[in-house]
Amino acid sequence: MQMIDYEEIFNMSYWRTTQNVVDGVSFVEHFMNSLLDASEEIRGFFVHSDGEAFSQGLILALVHLAGYFPDHIPDRVLEGIAVRHNRHGRAIKPHLYDIFLDCMLETVVLYDPEYEEHVGEAWRHVLSPGLEYIKSQY
Ligand code: HEM
Repeated sequence: MQMIDYEEIFNMSYWRTTQNVVDGVSFVEHFMNSLLDASEEIRGFFVHSDGEAFSQGLILALVHLAGYFPDHIPDRVLEGIAVRHNRHGRAIKPHLYDIFLDCMLETVVLYDPEYEEHVGEAWRHVLSPGLEYIKSQY
């Protein structure tokens, strides 16, 4: 049986997706709108911030999040993100990361011009462990 290389599929899709602009709307902009539409609780975190740092850091943060997948070892950047989002920091409750992932997947469907079901599966597989790590540091 052939093994599916989720990392490779994710990496290829990442470049297609994060650089894409649909109807004049960037990947990050769409993701952010989707996240804000998805949950009032999440909207609350962005009331006193324009989300500029989040939007600007997100595309690179995804690389660090995905970097957790192969060995389940966080790099320094991911550790920092986890600390700044934990109960002593922004206090982003663990269940909200599931909404984050749903919104990400919904955005990938629209933004990857070569989207297929296994591409979405790859994003889920590759990002989930890193998100579980952030949750575990809450
Ligand atoms: C629903 C889940 C999340 C919420 C509600 C949330 C909320 C926030 C907020 C309110 C900020 C500060 C906004 C600003 O000043 O621009 C922020 C910053 C940031 N977030 Fe999140 N976040 C979430 C998940 C994540 C995830 C999963 C990642 C990436 C792995 C991430 C990466 C960042 C980065 C890179 C910043 C910039 C500042 C920093 O590094 O701390 N966030 N987030």
